[in-house]
Amino acid sequence: MYTSKISGLGYYVPENVVTNDDLSKVMDTNDAWIQERTGIKERRHIKKGDGNSTSIMGVKAAEIALERANLTTDDIDFIVFATLSPDMYFPGGGVRVQDMMNMSTVPALDVRNQCSGFVYAISVADQFVKTGMYKNVLVIGSENHSGGLDMTTRGRGVSVIFGDGAGAAVVTRSEEKGSGILSTHLHSEGAHAKELSLEGPSTEHWVPEIIAENPQEDIPYYPYMNGQFVFKNAVVRFSEVINEGLQANNLSAADIDMLIPHQANLRISQFVQKQFQLSDDQVYNNIQKYGNTTAASIPIALTEAWEAGKIKKGDLVVLAAFGSGFTWGSAIIRW
Ligand code: UT7
Repeated sequence: MYTSKISGLGYYVPENVVTNDDLSKVMDTNDAWIQERTGIKERRHIKKGDGNSTSIMGVKAAEIALERANLTTDDIDFIVFATLSPDMYFPGGGVRVQDMMNMSTVPALDVRNQCSGFVYAISVADQFVKTGMYKNVLVIGSENHSGGLDMTTRGRGVSVIFGDGAGAAVVTRSEEKGSGILSTHLHSEGAHAKELSLEGPSTEHWVPEIIAENPQEDIPYYPYMNGQFVFKNAVVRFSEVINEGLQANNLSAADIDMLIPHQANLRISQFVQKQFQLSDDQVYNNIQKYGNTTAASIPIALTEAWEAGKIKKGDLVVLAAFGSGFTWGSAIIRW
């Protein structure tokens, strides 16, 4: 058995900044409500004509990660692409990245686990590297939320939260024992699938059916979230899955150098921080700038924390996520 490590990180966010005040011009919301409930001050939205898409942003993040790993596309054996907002209904973003980066016929896998997508994708990469099947796996989380949000007052409970962006990591074979990705821990609870979901268009809700069944102004093409229910489940599952990861490695909260929580809501991150008695320096949050970028949030935050010198060799880094599915997971990494 090999070990696996993260050898390169990168992220990309669109240039277009959308502030809370900008949103209050198109829906009945305000800066105070958004900041108080979520911590978000602004987010990035793809602008029509800026050339971005979910896959294209993924490529931009991936190019940076590859360069930092001192690798080229020829070195990549496998692509794992996590998103809930693919460019097309099918095929997924992985094959588009493979094409855009002029890669050989390496396999490309799409992960559909929403906010937990990046942790699931890292776990998939980790298994393939540890078993020796692949040497370098390109893992991408990318989201274009802005194209699919209800930007009217009807959608304000969801739309003010989400932002666009992409992050990428290269997972590489290593032989250094006791370092790299130590373990990953994944869970799901489909009983709550509808509590945070987008039902149509899908095979249960084809477009003609949706249009026939719904007055034009109530078409369920937009995400639905039972916010308080999701919040209550999130704080419990975040804590559980972090504890599970620590225990699996005979570690405790006191060993954590850096926690990178999925950026769902600053209040959730603060709740988890308090539970594990971590200082502000031990938790990295950037939801204030980018909103919730779902599968992209952890790789963007991880890259920023690493770029800022907040993650050093030997540090214990914990990634944790919770979201639609419900799905949740953690990764315990000795940097
Ligand atoms: O990343 C995936 C996982 N997602 C999450 O973890 C999200 C978890 N949930 C949350 O973060 C919170 O539930 C929200 C931030 C989404 C909402 O906060 P909340 O404190 O649960 O608010 P609420 O939905 O209970 O709404 C409270 C009030 C309502 O008005 P009334 O009925 O009390 O008059 C809403 O209509 O706030 C109103 N409201 C808004 N007001 C201004 C809802 N959205 C907005 C808005 N601006 N954007």
